[in-house]
Amino acid sequence: MPSLKGCYNIGDLRRRAKARLPAPMFHYIDGGSDDEWTLRRNTNAFDDCELMPNYLRDISQVKLGKTVMGRELALPFFLSPTGMSRLFHHEKELGACRAADKFGTLYSLSTLSTTSLEDVAAATAGPKMFQIYILKDRLLTREFVQRCKSSGYHALCLTVDTMVAGNRERDLVNGMTMPPRITSISNFFSYARSVHWWLNMLRDPDFRLANVAHRVDALGGGAMGLIDYVNSQFDRSVTWDDVAWLVEQWDGPFLIKGLQSAQDARRAMDVGATGVMISNHGGRQLDSTPAPFDCVEDMRNAVGDGLELIVDGGIRRGTHIIKALCRGADACSVGRAYLYGLAAGGQAGVERALELLRSELERGLALLGVADVSELGPGHLRELCSGDFKAGNQAPDQGARG
Ligand code: GLV
Repeated sequence: MPSLKGCYNIGDLRRRAKARLPAPMFHYIDGGSDDEWTLRRNTNAFDDCELMPNYLRDISQVKLGKTVMGRELALPFFLSPTGMSRLFHHEKELGACRAADKFGTLYSLSTLSTTSLEDVAAATAGPKMFQIYILKDRLLTREFVQRCKSSGYHALCLTVDTMVAGNRERDLVNGMTMPPRITSISNFFSYARSVHWWLNMLRDPDFRLANVAHRVDALGGGAMGLIDYVNSQFDRSVTWDDVAWLVEQWDGPFLIKGLQSAQDARRAMDVGATGVMISNHGGRQLDSTPAPFDCVEDMRNAVGDGLELIVDGGIRRGTHIIKALCRGADACSVGRAYLYGLAAGGQAGVERALELLRSELERGLALLGVADVSELGPGHLRELCSGDFKAGNQAPDQGARG
């Protein structure tokens, strides 16, 4: 297993995470729904176009920073909301938010986190977004809005693609439960060989969904896994009217996460959202949906400058971020890329993931002849012309070395 310093790309961090985690936890990060077509497509879509460099430009300084959601970020990408970080490392959400702060970028906290939104707010002064759902229990949704205001979150992001939980077959095969439980002989051996992980589990066994744990009624009287929580608490009848209601409760940047069509982007603008996270939930919900990268252009054409568009899905390389910005995204967000880092080494692992992406991005811009990330545009991209070449050129899903 490579050391953190010996990880030279996100694929290496993934391999280190795989070696350290019990199988149920690793596959919970790594997996998607059904046949995982969308999961693979999210990354492979970036290989359908090329970058066109222009040489002999002054690139002695390369500017990576951008204003996103009204905040000056040092990077044009940030951390997506991801649930239950305690499963992957005992430093959990605190390790991730501190790393984001150190790199001058935004951290998004999931409703289904294992650290409360107040504890994350107390841990960093950096920009923070809270990811929210419209639950059957609207009082709980309103409570989140109030708690975010009191704790100084500056943006809210409503996830809309999780009315029911996706069909994640790897979780069934590996006996993934929350909190973790031994469910079979093979999963016993998988826990047993992950010595670091279970020693830390004994030391810090708190796996509660910290934002909702006080609502025993919302948890059905005890601990409950993500799938059960989603299927029992999420409201299938939510419509655009409910989104308009939530926008009114919040005074600040409001993003909708999970949209992919130009039509929905226009509606998001109509209800007063300030941005959209173009996302298919990392290929974990409806399989066969398009890659976010393939949706940017139509959505940008539909809304002009009226919404901030964030590409969320499949990013493993700095060049992926460059391509998304060329297509018209304002910024990108990464989920798995930093979770592999968290599992590989806690906060230091997240920092390694951010450092790798930052240096790939910086080097990529310099080699492209672009001194400021805001100057990226469609002129730097070229679609691949040959279908045959495209089909034969699908990159391995994770990193260059298999
Ligand atoms: C949580 O949102 C997940 O996809 O597991």
